Amino acid sequence: MWKGGARVREDGDAPVLLSIENVSKRFPGVKALDRVSMTVKAGTVHALMGENGAGKSTLMKCLFGIYAKDEGHIYLEGNEIRFRSAREALDSGVAMVHQELNQALKRSVMDNIWLGRYPRMRNLPFVSERKMLADTASIFGELDIRVNPKTIMSSMPVSQRQMVEIAKAVSFHSKVIVFDEPTSSLTETEVEHLFRIIRALRDRGCGIIYISHKMEEILRISDEVTIMRDGQWVATKPAAELTMNEIIRLMVGREMSNRFPPRDSRALEGAVLEAENLSGRYSHLRGVSFKLKKGEILGVAGLDGSGRTELLENLFGSAARGSGSLTKSGRRIHNRSPREAIANGFAMVTEERRATGIMDILTVRENTTISCLRKCRGIGPFLSSRKIAQKTEWSINAMRIKTPKQTTKLRSLSGGNQQKVIFGRWALTEPEIFLLDEPTRGVDVGAKYEIYQLIIQMAREGKSVVMASSEMPELLGICHRILVMSGGRLAGEVDAGRATQEEIMTLAAKYA
Ligand SMILES: Nc1ncnc2c1ncn2[C@@H]1O[C@H](COP(=O)(O)OP(=O)(O)OP(=O)(O)O)[C@@H](O)[C@H]1O
Ligand SMILES: [Mg+2]
Repeated sequence: MWKGGARVREDGDAPVLLSIENVSKRFPGVKALDRVSMTVKAGTVHALMGENGAGKSTLMKCLFGIYAKDEGHIYLEGNEIRFRSAREALDSGVAMVHQELNQALKRSVMDNIWLGRYPRMRNLPFVSERKMLADTASIFGELDIRVNPKTIMSSMPVSQRQMVEIAKAVSFHSKVIVFDEPTSSLTETEVEHLFRIIRALRDRGCGIIYISHKMEEILRISDEVTIMRDGQWVATKPAAELTMNEIIRLMVGREMSNRFPPRDSRALEGAVLEAENLSGRYSHLRGVSFKLKKGEILGVAGLDGSGRTELLENLFGSAARGSGSLTKSGRRIHNRSPREAIANGFAMVTEERRATGIMDILTVRENTTISCLRKCRGIGPFLSSRKIAQKTEWSINAMRIKTPKQTTKLRSLSGGNQQKVIFGRWALTEPEIFLLDEPTRGVDVGAKYEIYQLIIQMAREGKSVVMASSEMPELLGICHRILVMSGGRLAGEVDAGRATQEEIMTLAAKYA
């Protein structure tokens, strides 16, 4: 154990900033952390990896005092710390950019950064707006963040709000900064920007803890990797000594040689859905026509902003259609609202599941069956609790959802497991046409495989899937055909079994 504030050096290399020792945390029915240790050195990026529910976020929440740890010790530069709140942690130089951003959305950017510690005007109880603006601008300049400090938070996309959160961490002169799945809603350019910021912070001597499910990112940005499984520490290794397969093996605890289930190569015939000349009323979607076959998995590729999400929203009626027509099995349909689309046999899993699909104070069971209650009738007007329990059981098994009970509140599930619940909910409505926007965002490699299997199985049963994704390997891995969007238009179509990423990229750039 260490004394005083002296920096401790470990075998001559970078000094240890943060040391987590044997931390345990138990929730009703789960041991979320079981004597986990990890050490973060100054000037390094330390990745924290593990499957959904492995305990990554919980470990960080123990660090920040959001949860009280049951046992263990945490040291910052050799001094034991016991933060009681995230604010106390910030004041001591430990900051976190959360998986779920928690900001004052109605306030301005600069309010969010300085809330509770505004620079005062000399000898007066007033806040110096000018100083606040100047201080904010200087941090933004330093980090190359192009956001007006006076903008109201709610009017900005998540990516920019995240940048504000990072600026806030920097404004506290943080020594340790934790990023919990920071890139899940960022475009490629934004990811590059984030990485430049992270490297700059690292070069200044900060210790960075980086949590992500994106293997390529981890291998690019991190110096060291710690892997957890089922609440326990599994390994810590230099990133340079790890391969993707090795990480997967350590995370999942078994060999996983294929990232995708075997391809479904049935011959498909007959269109279930014909979309003609779809345009958005308020979006830049223009003149998109395609046919969707029965039992087909149709991918939608394209760069960010190319109209992938807009296309799905247009089909589902959640975005207003300017013009165009839809024909389902020979019958003209309109899908003017999601309600109408659901009645026409559609279901949609949205990109921002956490924001739109989740009722986190309700239980797993309620969240699962809320959309299929009609199929859970018992005698007369009553619901059958047996059927409800059966459906929930199906979803928990099919998606391998990690939850102690069906009646656990969704709120207490890990981020990835919440997503799986929402996916299961829509799968249970047994739609004929399943619209998926980024279906595997935020879920770990093992769970991705399960979602792929479920999609393929649904297609085998004759349902049709339209799936938008920014991950080309997954589109190439499981789809039959892929539509490529560019600048709001359909740039082309490729056969997923034969196409290459380069071909898709070329099409994606056509009208961009
Ligand atoms: N407030 C809580 N109450 C009860 N159980 C909880 C609570 N928070 C987390 N858990 C449980 O602790 C375990 C670890 O969850 P945690 O959120 O740390 O996982 P994670 O590694 O961050 O996963 P993900 O990759 O999905 O974000 C899970 O089994 C989860 O259900
Ligand atoms: Mg998490």
